[in-house]
Amino acid sequence: MPTSTLDARLEAALHLIRSEVHADIGSDHAHLPIRLIREGRVGRCVVVELNPGPLALAQRKVARARLEDRIEVRAGNGFAPLRPGEVDSASMTGMGAGTMVGILDRAGERRPPTLVLQPNDSPRPLRVWAREHGYHLTAERLIAGYWPYPVLRLDRAGGTDPAYASLPLNAALRYGPHLLREGSGLLREQVEADIARLVPLAAPGRTAQMELEAARDALTVLEGQ
Ligand SMILES: C[S@@+](CC[C@H](N)C(=O)[O-])C[C@H]1O[C@@H](n2cnc3c(N)ncnc32)[C@H](O)[C@@H]1O
Repeated sequence: MPTSTLDARLEAALHLIRSEVHADIGSDHAHLPIRLIREGRVGRCVVVELNPGPLALAQRKVARARLEDRIEVRAGNGFAPLRPGEVDSASMTGMGAGTMVGILDRAGERRPPTLVLQPNDSPRPLRVWAREHGYHLTAERLIAGYWPYPVLRLDRAGGTDPAYASLPLNAALRYGPHLLREGSGLLREQVEADIARLVPLAAPGRTAQMELEAARDALTVLEGQ
């Protein structure tokens, strides 16, 4: 059986998922759930799609992969088509972080204990959301692509998230505590590009000023390694 290839950001998400029952919200082509099943990383998968075109595409792809018995495709918005406790983990990839936060807020008790998220823009709102909703950031990846794609794994846990200990908070929320500690060349390039972009925009009281301070703090952490 041919193995469908994933682009690098979905490949990174794949390796952060291992559970019995998984949901992929906003799946479109269903490439991630198909690989999750084929590689034995999950036992069963529920695909949720809001829009008719992507829903039909997911159904076709799952049928072509002959995985209808393992992957169920449901129409609906976010976690609404799932029963509370039905899935152990869920992914959302290729959407804006603000859209994801809205979906997570509306999910309530349908939200599973493990979430793997790949926003197409700044992941900061997701890191803030996790700290306020009893999830710890347990793994992060930064993947080169059209721009650097962050991939986050969140696990439900009590207490303060230890990932942020001894790091400047705004820098860690913007760039990622695990990514800052890891200090990859890709992150360093992103921080330096942000500083170059923000210097002409920054002025007291402006958002750009706070972003610049976070970027400079991040660079200090990276240079201390
Ligand atoms: C840009 S595509 C990303 C597809 C795939 N996850 C990936 O990363 O390649 C976003 C998909 O999310 C779906 N979507 C957006 N909002 C949604 C929601 N509230 N519930 C379910 N699906 C949603 C869209 O229909 C679209 O197919």
